[in-house]
Amino acid sequence: MRILSGIQPSGTLHLGNYFGMMKPAIELQEKGEAFYFIADLHALTSVQNAAALRANSLELAVDFLACGLDPARAVFFRQSDVPSVAELAWILSTVTPMGLLERCHSFKDKTTRGMAASHGLFAYPVLMAADILIYDSDLVPVGRDQKQHLEVTRDIAIKMNETYGEVFKLPEPSIREDSAIVPGLDGAKMSKSYGNTIEIFAPEKVLRKKIMGIKTDSTPVEAPKPVEGSSILGLYKLVATEADYRAMEADFLRGGVGYGDLKKRLFAGIWEYFAPQRARREEILVDTSLVDRVLTEGAVKARATADVVMARVRKAVGL
Ligand code: ADP
Ligand code: TRP
Repeated sequence: MRILSGIQPSGTLHLGNYFGMMKPAIELQEKGEAFYFIADLHALTSVQNAAALRANSLELAVDFLACGLDPARAVFFRQSDVPSVAELAWILSTVTPMGLLERCHSFKDKTTRGMAASHGLFAYPVLMAADILIYDSDLVPVGRDQKQHLEVTRDIAIKMNETYGEVFKLPEPSIREDSAIVPGLDGAKMSKSYGNTIEIFAPEKVLRKKIMGIKTDSTPVEAPKPVEGSSILGLYKLVATEADYRAMEADFLRGGVGYGDLKKRLFAGIWEYFAPQRARREEILVDTSLVDRVLTEGAVKARATADVVMARVRKAVGL
């Protein structure tokens, strides 16, 4: 089974990215042949500064390795190191109905929030389909917000197969229900674009301050607190043991513990959960030439796989 996923180097890694995509991807690397990449071509839709894109890409690669991506098991590479993915995106775009892309939420969401309505942003799901199809992927671990893009990918693959014969495998999404939507500081979905993120590798002081800033209601200390929709509980569930989580839930239901104390407990939980990853990250940062080597080796393997599929595609379409 081939497992594939990508993540854009468009900002700093947050809890939503980690629990929604990275952790599931890392756990899946044991289960098959994993291909994971830094989606730098996709990031061009939002990061239009060469130095920033380069720095973000390296940082994200360091973070992915620190979080447990094992280059001995997974092929780890930069999207742009396999240029034929852009060629495939073009070929796919010629069978992609406009309406399919017009129905995609992410373009509407991103432009509503002020991102430039470029053609790249609109055609983004086609490049994502190329990313997935060019490696004959079976399973794609992502957060819930990417589900529609997986449906688009399948639709495009079906259209190609109808037009040219059996060219592509149909990939399946893998979305973990327990962390499909990680809540942010304000209770909405955690996202860079909402400014409600908690960065997993933030310095201690910064992290504490962020967590103490989680929005809460005005329930007095002694009163029971609403469990439903609480970011504190939602986030604690991800990092705490079952027993610690139950204890906090009981404190919510019983009352008598203030939000300040509950947030301190959440901070301690998050800080401790990421201690091993932080330590590994410090080690990697001592000499990042290792990261470059991993990505360069990954690119060679990824290109070899993509070449086989591209030969099949070119033959099928008549190029
Ligand atoms: P952002 O919304 O911060 O821009 P991205 O769109 O770059 O994040 O998402 C990268 C990966 O992380 C995707 O697989 C996405 O599904 C996942 N992800 C991002 N935010 C969350 C969240 N709040 N809950 C679950 N998964 C998330
Ligand atoms: N669109 C994804 C995101 O914003 C990143 C991505 C690009 C991706 N290509 C992919 C994810 C292929 C999975 C498979 O998070």
